[in-house]
Amino acid sequence: MAAVLDLKLHPFGVFGAEVKEIDLARVTHVEIDAIKHAWYRHDVLLFRNQRLTDDDLLSFSRHFGALDSPPNQGAGRKSPPGYAEVYIVSNVLDDKGEPIGALGDGEAAWHTDMSYAPLPPDASMLYSLEIPAQGGDTWFSSMKVALARMPRELVGRIRGLDIKHDGTYDSGGNARKGLTATNDPRTSVGTPHPVIIEHPVSGEPALYLGRRRNAYVMGLELAESERLLDEIWSYVDSAVYRHRWALGDVVLWDNRTTMHRRDAFNAKARRVMHRTQVKGSAAPRRARA
Ligand code: SIN
Repeated sequence: MAAVLDLKLHPFGVFGAEVKEIDLARVTHVEIDAIKHAWYRHDVLLFRNQRLTDDDLLSFSRHFGALDSPPNQGAGRKSPPGYAEVYIVSNVLDDKGEPIGALGDGEAAWHTDMSYAPLPPDASMLYSLEIPAQGGDTWFSSMKVALARMPRELVGRIRGLDIKHDGTYDSGGNARKGLTATNDPRTSVGTPHPVIIEHPVSGEPALYLGRRRNAYVMGLELAESERLLDEIWSYVDSAVYRHRWALGDVVLWDNRTTMHRRDAFNAKARRVMHRTQVKGSAAPRRARA
């Protein structure tokens, strides 16, 4: 096997790491191999001080696979003109008073990107272009650690189960454009996936939860499903990394092994992030016992 370049890596703790001294606009194939290696190990990677055009962001993102188009959020699909694979997350309004991006200034609840789809993205990345002085931090949670910290008895009980991931609401709690709000997870749009999956490359097991709202454990009575989901979700923040944004940060995360959420921020401040997401290479696969 070819040797992998040594990156300047600064781990945050049990997961997540900063990669120093890499210019993502000029990244080489050798660096990409090393970044992938580090990413499978740390799940969340931070690259500071980047100066990227949307073309640079797209070409870095494409090293990880073909890209997905943006999710349909409450505000619809928001992309810069000519860049359909870039998704704008922002509270800024255009000159007609329309949001230029999705999610506004409110809190976004813990979620996995687009896990309501049969083939959810493998990876997502966010690039910060404008940030508020305070607030708007993005938090990541390791689903590998959450599973590892769960009592073995609970793991045994849930191992063979599937959770239906609801597609009605975005993580800001808004019904997606064109969809009717519903609070019945048994009949809402969405896709069931195994509750414990294995990573297709590393083989490591992880919880796979999506969103709490309108989640449903397939085959259970609704009340029983709610009780079990509450029990499972009590482990969600077992290991978290809080990212306080600086301008020019790129954060890349593994959408199969982490969840993320965002803090609210002052509505008068401007926050503009460009996001890309890498298409799923395989449907989430149940972990072997
Ligand atoms: C997202 O859920 O992708 C947005 C996170 C953020 O705005 O920090």
